[in-house]
Amino acid sequence: MCRDCSVPLTPSRRSFSTFLAVGAGLTLLTACNPSFPAGSVQTPEGSTSAVASGSPAAVPSESPEPVATAVVEPVSETPATAQPSPSAALPAQHSLTDPASPWLVVNKYRPLQPADYAPADLVQPAVAMATSGESALLNGTTAAAAEAMFAAAAADGVFLTLASGYRSYNTQVATYNNYVAARGQADADTASARPGYSEHQTGWAFDIADGGGACSFQPCFADQPAGVWAAANGHRFGFVVRYQWMFHPITGYYYEPWHLRYIGVEAATDMVNKGIHTLEEYFGTGAAPGYP
Ligand code: DAL
Ligand code: ZN
Repeated sequence: MCRDCSVPLTPSRRSFSTFLAVGAGLTLLTACNPSFPAGSVQTPEGSTSAVASGSPAAVPSESPEPVATAVVEPVSETPATAQPSPSAALPAQHSLTDPASPWLVVNKYRPLQPADYAPADLVQPAVAMATSGESALLNGTTAAAAEAMFAAAAADGVFLTLASGYRSYNTQVATYNNYVAARGQADADTASARPGYSEHQTGWAFDIADGGGACSFQPCFADQPAGVWAAANGHRFGFVVRYQWMFHPITGYYYEPWHLRYIGVEAATDMVNKGIHTLEEYFGTGAAPGYP
């Protein structure tokens, strides 16, 4: 059953709703969505298409981020603004603007500078791969952290795969243009960063999967062992789930339980301990719901 999406959420209801939504899965998610009918999927690099309930969606062959399911996130209780707020972060250790910094905050208000930035230390981590080529690369720090995290998950009996890592500026051009062609710019902007605005271009972020496929790049990934494990343990290796449920008025993107961002163990653990869900809130940079 779909909750009343028009009812504003209080913070406590937001937490409860998060719990309900994660547990209820795709049916609830799609049932509330004003843009995507129940049973449809969002394809970040593809199109919106109808799929049978519970069945894997088609994967575009050239897609670095193969499938993401339509996500419904209730309207936030307060309008998001781009006003900076006091940082909740640890004392400043790293730049928030240098793309080579683990504390970089890149979003719709904060483009990469330069726009065509490419990490100097791209490497392929020794982890299970569900991708190849450029997309199998991460920056050196993130690669080492990913190796440690994937090994720890395996020790706990949880299988993770790296589904999409680094994307060059030119790859993001193609990715974003595919979205726009399929869905129009407004919808594209809820799921895919414009070129020069993606964390994937920095090597600090990557998408995980579990080798199964049914919930790859879909909200129900949050309920899979890999998604549950990563959400609970990622901070121990320096990672946070970057685009969390119902925080799109702040992050600018709908829920992506598969997208992990490295910020370092100390900061990631601090965010978890403080109950902070977005880098924008943690570092006090202000919300970035849309492009200015
Ligand atoms: N899907 C995320 C927002 C990206 O394109 O970087
Ligand atoms: Zn991603």
